[in-house]
Amino acid sequence: MHKTTFFLTAGVLALTLNAGAALAQDATAGEAVFKKCHVCHSTEAGKMKVGPSLHGVVGRTPGTLAGYKYSDAMKAFGASGAKWDEATLDAYLENPRGKVPKVKMIFPGLKNEKDRKDVIAFLATKS
Ligand code: HEC
Repeated sequence: MHKTTFFLTAGVLALTLNAGAALAQDATAGEAVFKKCHVCHSTEAGKMKVGPSLHGVVGRTPGTLAGYKYSDAMKAFGASGAKWDEATLDAYLENPRGKVPKVKMIFPGLKNEKDRKDVIAFLATKS
C-alpha cells in the first residue's frame, strides 16, 4: 500500500471510531438526563403526570396513549403518520415546539445531542 494512502485510511478510521464513541448511546447516562423529564413524565405503564406515561413510547404513534388528554397539535402529529422512532424523538426533544407547533409540553429542549441519544436509549429500555 502506498504510504499516503495508508495514513489517510488510518486517519479516516480513527475519525470514524471517535465519532462512534462520542455518539454511542448510554441508557445509564440517559437515566440521569431523564431527571429533566421526571417532573412531568413517569416511565411506569399507565402512570400519567402533567405529561403522558413514557412507558413504551419508542415505536408508539404520537398522541395515542389511552387515558391521556393530548393537545390537538400532538394528536394531529400522530394522525399525520409520524412514529416515535429514534429520529423523530431526537428532532422533537431538540426543539419540541419547532417539531410540533402548539404542543403543550413546556420544555425548551435538550440542545446536547448526546443527552438526546442517551435519554432515548433509556426510554427504549422502558417497554
Ligand atoms: C413541564 C412538563 C414537561 C417536561 C419537563 C417534559 N415533558 Fe414531555 N410532555 C409534556 C406534556 C404536557 C406532553 C403532552 C403534549 C401534548 O399533548 O401536546 C408531553 C409529551 C411528550 C411526548 C409525546 C408522548 C406521546 O405519548 O405521544 C414525549 C415523547 C415526551 N413528552 C418526552 C419528554 C422527554 C424525554 C422529556 C425530558 C427530556 C420531557 N418530555 C419533558 C410535558 C413535559
